[in-house]
Amino acid sequence: MSNHSSHSGFSHGNIESNNGLMIVLMLIVLSVGGLLEIVPLFFQKSTTQPVAGLKPYDALRLAGRDIYEREGCYNCHSQMVRPFRAETLRYGHYSLASEYVYDHPFQWGSKRTGPDLHRIGGKYSDQWQITHLNNPRDLVPESIMPAYPWLMNTPVDGKSLPSHMRALRTVGVPYTDADIAGAEEAVKGKTEMDAMVAYLQGLGTLVK
Ligand code: HEC
Repeated sequence: MSNHSSHSGFSHGNIESNNGLMIVLMLIVLSVGGLLEIVPLFFQKSTTQPVAGLKPYDALRLAGRDIYEREGCYNCHSQMVRPFRAETLRYGHYSLASEYVYDHPFQWGSKRTGPDLHRIGGKYSDQWQITHLNNPRDLVPESIMPAYPWLMNTPVDGKSLPSHMRALRTVGVPYTDADIAGAEEAVKGKTEMDAMVAYLQGLGTLVK
């Protein structure tokens, strides 16, 4: 029980009736708990090192990822398979932190109007993806996903890629000078549809 007549500044009664002291003590307790949980993650290999075989997105896939962001696909699709049986049965292996180390920003998302896409790579043929993006109802009659027909006839904007790659390099993505110099050439003649399909087909394929 609290002791309201105590002289000590740290009696239960004094703490509960003193908002400032209460806030300070709560912050101390919460930071100790928080630090113990969070700080080790910065030093664990499994959360900071790339999974075996992970490479930075090549120029075409990086362009596809930008289009994914531009079109707001993340508003309806998450990219994170959670470690629950219902999820792993449907999508495959749960997502690992080490699969995302070159993602800036992450496309985890939190809204699933459509299915999770983290393990979509290789699930369908390229032609399926093209037909579906062009008009989802041609393949899934009841689909409410929007159609993206302009991807077919819009060329990839290769000019912005080198500066984009340099920016990613400053945050730790290991692009070489050759990757950057060759980026514009690598997407020459490609459409946004090619880029989007290349991006989707590579997603989540390193962990089976
Ligand atoms: C308004 C919500 C919405 C938006 C925005 C959206 N989708 Fe979808 N998507 C869905 C729904 C619902 C489905 C399930 C029905 C279907 O397959 O069409 C789906 C299915 C998919 C599938 C097939 C998944 C599977 O496992 O069968 C892919 C791939 C996909 N979407 C990619 C995209 C991409 C890429 C974009 C952005 C260009 C996008 N979606 C934007 C709602 C959306």
